[in-house]
Order: sequence, then C-alpha cells, then structure tokens
Amino acid sequence: MNKAVILAGGQGKRMKAEMPKPLFKVLGEPMLHWVITACESADITDICVVKGFKGEMIDEYLGKKYTTVLQAERLGTGHAVQQAIPFLENDTSGNTLVLCGDAPFIDEETIRNSLKTHEEQGNSVTVITAELENPFGYGRIIRSAKGISGIVEQKDATDEQKAVKEVNSGAYWFRTADLVELLGKLDNNNAQNEYYLTDTVSIAISEGKNAGAFKSDNADIIKGANDRKDLLELNTYARMAVINKHLANGVEFTCTDGVVIERSVEIGVGTEILPNTILRRNTSVGQNCVIGPNTLVENCKIGDEVSLNTVQAYDSVIESGVNIGPYVHIRPDSLIRSEAKIGDFVEIKNSTIGEKTAIAHLAYVGDSDIGKRVNIGCGTVTVNYDGIAKSRCVIGDNCFVGCNTNLIAPVKLGKAVYTAAGTTVTRDVPDYALAIDRGVMKINEGYTLRKLKTKLGK
Ligand code: UD1
Ligand code: CA
Repeated sequence: MNKAVILAGGQGKRMKAEMPKPLFKVLGEPMLHWVITACESADITDICVVKGFKGEMIDEYLGKKYTTVLQAERLGTGHAVQQAIPFLENDTSGNTLVLCGDAPFIDEETIRNSLKTHEEQGNSVTVITAELENPFGYGRIIRSAKGISGIVEQKDATDEQKAVKEVNSGAYWFRTADLVELLGKLDNNNAQNEYYLTDTVSIAISEGKNAGAFKSDNADIIKGANDRKDLLELNTYARMAVINKHLANGVEFTCTDGVVIERSVEIGVGTEILPNTILRRNTSVGQNCVIGPNTLVENCKIGDEVSLNTVQAYDSVIESGVNIGPYVHIRPDSLIRSEAKIGDFVEIKNSTIGEKTAIAHLAYVGDSDIGKRVNIGCGTVTVNYDGIAKSRCVIGDNCFVGCNTNLIAPVKLGKAVYTAAGTTVTRDVPDYALAIDRGVMKINEGYTLRKLKTKLGK
C-alpha cells in the first residue's frame, strides 16, 4: 500500500514563536493540515509525521489518527526520514511519498501524476520538481540522458550547477523497499554535515536503479514560509486563489478588501460578498445573498436570499430570506427560520427564531424558542440565567412582546399573547391573554417649579 512521510520537525526561528512551523496557519488551517488533506485527497491515508521541535504540539494537534515519530536531533532531511524506518517497514510493498509539512500548496493532481510517472518509469525515486526564475537556496536537479543523476544543494553547487533553474520541491516518491535500503547508506560528508535525503538519488543510480524527476506545472508547490512576512504572502496567495474560484462560480465581489474566505466554504451563484467579510470553516452560503460589509461567519449554514450586514454568526443555521443586521451577534446553536428579521444591537444565543418573526432592535434572546410571526419589542430580555442554572423561554406564534419586557425563565407565553411594555413576566401566560405588570402611574403637578424654588431660593 502507498503511504506518506511528512517532515514536520522545523522550528521556524524567524517566526519568533514557540511553535512548530507546520502548525502556522494559512487561511485558517495549519500548513500541516493542507499537506495532509492533499495526501488524503490523493487516497493516501497511511501517514507518518516526523516531529521535532515542540513535537508534543504536533501530537496534540493530530490526535490519534496518524503515526508520529520524533527526530530528537536535527541532523538533516535524510536523518528525519530515517526516524520513520519502523513505519516504512510495516509494509514495504508499495511506494512512499515524502513531503514537507511546511509547504502547504502540494496538490492532489501533482501527487497523482507524479506517482504515475514514478510507476511507469520503474523508478526507485522520483523527485517532484519545479522551475523557478530565482532558484537560489534550493537543491538543483542535475538531469542526465536516462533521467536525473543527482540533486546538488546550494551550498555544495558549482557555478554551472547554480545556473540550473529546475529545483527540488522537497517532495518525492520512493519505492518503499528501496527507500529503507537507501536510508541506510546516507552519510553526512557535505558542506552542512547533514544527512541529506537528496543523496538517495545518486546512491540509487550508483546501484543501477532508476531515478527520475516529475516537473510540476504548479510551481507554487514549492512555496513555504521562513518568517511572518512569507506567511502573509502564503495567506495572500491562498486567499486570492479561493476568491478566484468563487468568481469563476458566479459569486460577485466588487472589492475584495478585507475579504477572507477559507477553503472549505461554499457559496451559491449570484451571492454578493462585500468588503471586510470573513467566512470560516464549514460555512455554506446559498444563492443571491448579500453578505457583508463587516461580517464574520463561522461554521454556519445559510440559505438563499439572506442579507447579513455587520453580523457575527457562529455554529448556527440561518434559513432563506432572513435579513440580519447591522450590529447583530448570532451565537452558537441558533436556528433562524425563513424570512425572520433581526435588526440592530440584537444578540441571539442557543435559540430558535420562528418564520417571519421580527426582533427589530436592542434585545437579548438566549435559550429560547420563539414561534412564527412574533414581534419582539425593543429592549426585551430573556432572563435565562439565575446565577446558577440556565433555563428556557418559550414564546408562542403571533405573540406581541412589548418593549422592555423581561421574561424570567423558565417561562412560557402561549399563542398570540401580548405583554405590556415594561412587564416582567414571572409566570406562564395562557393563549390570547395580556400580561401587564405595572404600578399605578402618578402625576405630581408643579413639581419642577417647586424644586427649582427650594434649590435656587427664587
Ligand atoms: C531541502 C532539500 C532541497 C530542496 C528544499 C525544498 C535536502 C538536503 N535539501 O532543502 O533540495 O530544494 O528542501 O524546500 O533535503 N527537516 C526535518 N529535520 C531535519 C531537517 C529538515 O524535519 O533535520 C524538515 C524541515 O522542517 C522541512 C523539511 O525537512 O519541513 C525541509 O527542510 P529544510 O531545512 O527546509 O530543507 P533545505 O535544506 O532548505
Ligand atoms: Ca527549505
């Protein structure tokens, strides 16, 4: 079976953070996750990650799903793969893909096509390469009549070799059995005194084995980040790639300033994304919506013809025809039914808002189930927390909740209940009733004048 070894031992000193470099995020996902998803989309699921600096953070991130091995000392890429020998020896029948955990843009197509070349040419090792205008710093590919004869590192290269523009991406296919054997033959006789994985190429050839190169059309597979500036560049590149995909699918952007859409987000045709909109994780947006400006949506399912203007929404479902904003916070586990309207300065948490219900301004609705065609007046608060326990409020269809109503949970309003403005509801109210809770209003005539007289002595 084919498998993969991913090198994730790098520290990234220039990032100035106590974190393994492959855990830095590009468009919301650790670079290591980009690499793993590329493997998995090419049907490679038997994966070993070689960790080093702060290896425990890699384990914590990966959970139990993948094998990890520790490279305790950083002695080179060859030494890193040597740590995975027990993993390789579990099954040496197929091929092994070696990848760098900090080069996030390796893609499924490159992985599949390079494997095809690897198998067709009967190679022990096939290096995935790319051509760069400026190849400085990368290992140069030395081509031969039969394939390639070796890879020469920048620090070991002659001037003639330095002129070569085809470089090693750091990704390779090996016949697994040959990889185990070749790893045993590496030495560190080079400018950096490291065990170079790249030396497997010349060793294989000296033993009469085939070595080849697969040149990828996608030179971005080589992109990595050594510092925060590089990381920003990777993010910018990935961000525009996602936006371009949505443009091709019929999504409208008039200005992409501040627009960040993660890879996993789906957006329907005819939807318009306005500036400063951030769409994260498994968010899906239907057709003909207007999302933004100034909106952040994380892990929400949004129907068609929805408008979100200056909204933050998390882990919720917003059905078609809903209009929300400006300045609205939809907290997790909320369900906003179709054609509901939620206006400025409203917070909703763990609640269902029924069809065509309006919460036009300044309200808190938490742990509540609100029916259809309800009107929630300005300043209404569901008092869902008594300092110890959270409780629910239930509001029936067609209720009219007056301004500044407090609903002390647990409490239930039946169908078509009215509450008078300023009422604090402490008991359930039956269908079609009015709940009113007021002292008698008094009028004290001439009060102001008397007050002024005593204060000012006039
Ligand atoms: C390596 C290649 C070079 C190629 C380049 C592509 C070698 C000798 N050279 O260069 O031909 O063009 O990658 O980026 O392989 N790592 C470890 N442990 C180590 C050393 C490295 O885990 O002891 C990991 C790094 O964290 C990184 C990857 O291996 O993910 C590549 O290491 P890096 O130092 O970037 O490789 P280079 O020497 O720059
Ligand atoms: Ca590198």
